[in-house]
Amino acid sequence: MGKRNENIITVIDLGSAKTLALVVEATNAGLRYRGHGISPSAGTRRGVIVDLESAGKSVAEAVARAEKSSGIALDSAVVGVSGPHIRSGNSYGVISLGSRARELTTADVQAAGARARDIEMPEDREILHLLTQEFVVDDQDGVKQPVGMLARQLEVRVHVITAAHSAVQNIVTSLNRVGMHVEDTIYEALACSESVLRGEERELGAAVIDIGAGTADIAVVRDDVVIHSGVVPLGGLNFTRDVAYGLETPVAEAENLKRQFGCSIVTNISEQNEIEVPSVGDRPPRMMRQRDLAEILEPRARELMELLRDDLHRAGVLEKLGGGIILTGGAARLPSLLDTCEDILRRPARLGLPLGMAQLPVELQEPEYAAAIGMVFYTQRARVLKRKEKEETGFGARVRALFVRGNAG
Ligand SMILES: Nc1ncnc2c1ncn2[C@@H]1O[C@H](COP(=O)(O)OP(=O)(O)OP(=O)(O)O)[C@@H](O)[C@H]1O
Ligand SMILES: [Mg+2]
Repeated sequence: MGKRNENIITVIDLGSAKTLALVVEATNAGLRYRGHGISPSAGTRRGVIVDLESAGKSVAEAVARAEKSSGIALDSAVVGVSGPHIRSGNSYGVISLGSRARELTTADVQAAGARARDIEMPEDREILHLLTQEFVVDDQDGVKQPVGMLARQLEVRVHVITAAHSAVQNIVTSLNRVGMHVEDTIYEALACSESVLRGEERELGAAVIDIGAGTADIAVVRDDVVIHSGVVPLGGLNFTRDVAYGLETPVAEAENLKRQFGCSIVTNISEQNEIEVPSVGDRPPRMMRQRDLAEILEPRARELMELLRDDLHRAGVLEKLGGGIILTGGAARLPSLLDTCEDILRRPARLGLPLGMAQLPVELQEPEYAAAIGMVFYTQRARVLKRKEKEETGFGARVRALFVRGNAG
């Protein structure tokens, strides 16, 4: 094993289907892939750990494989958080500077941030991210960097993402148990927004939807800031279970059939196509129409898209998606799902593949790895900001880093 290296970024995505540990090195020439390990997930349900021991085992396995593949001993990682316990909202904090205008300092920005952070929250919840949207300096909104401006009042508007304390704690515990320290926690859809969105989409408004096995996680970015996040408790596993029940076939076979022959629009499949469906027990396999499979998948796909539409509509952001919808995560691969999405949400949709980096194996350039790869980009940006803060004498940069990373304790 090589020496420990502070330029190494390790991220762990503890999904409902797979656990992935990814090791990347930050070099002068940019990010460079060093290795990864994947293990089947265990002990999680809908993105939340329900059995610490099994979850710990699958983390240990993924980490061991990543160590072997990278040749680097790993002892700390950034970890993703998702699940139906995620909540979000917009908040603000205001400070008055007195009757005479004066120059805003970084301390003022910090004080306004502290007010914004001071939200009422049940005891069992914690702030995962506090993301600055904009500052309002007196009556001037849309300010990105207020330090040095003359003002009598400063307001900061933020997007707050909170999580159930127990859910976050279980992730931390399962990593600690296998000797891994948790460097940071990141909401997974926010991570995806870092790896799949293009610049113009971030400006015009785009919803990134990470459809995994257990949940569909949403992050909406507009004017380059996060304006909404949310989770819909449906994922690829629901599709698979529907197929298992509907076609009376074991879950593993249903998963295969879905991946090989699945489609979310019945009429996109030829009436003539037939597929062989394995039976439960000793009974022989049967020939069925491929359309029978699509008939099971279509209503579930429509339900998922309706739930996503309702969530975006309730948050008042459906009309703000000039950049469209970007579906990512493994379940986004279901053929015709983009069409179902466009049909129900009435916005253009595309598949979100993660941005590449040097030496990234092609098998990782797939939607199910968008979250882990996004966590790497996010962490790198946070580290650069932190380093800048050390170099700069003032603590303005610290405030900035705080907001961009938004990792409140
Ligand atoms: N070609 C395909 N067609 C349809 N579904 C697919 C395909 N490939 C993978 N999936 C589905 O993608 C899901 C796994 O996706 P992913 O790896 O993103 O989940 P995860 O991150 O482990 O779960 P979560 O994010 O919900 O915790 C599975 O339900 C799987 O059935
Ligand atoms: Mg996932």
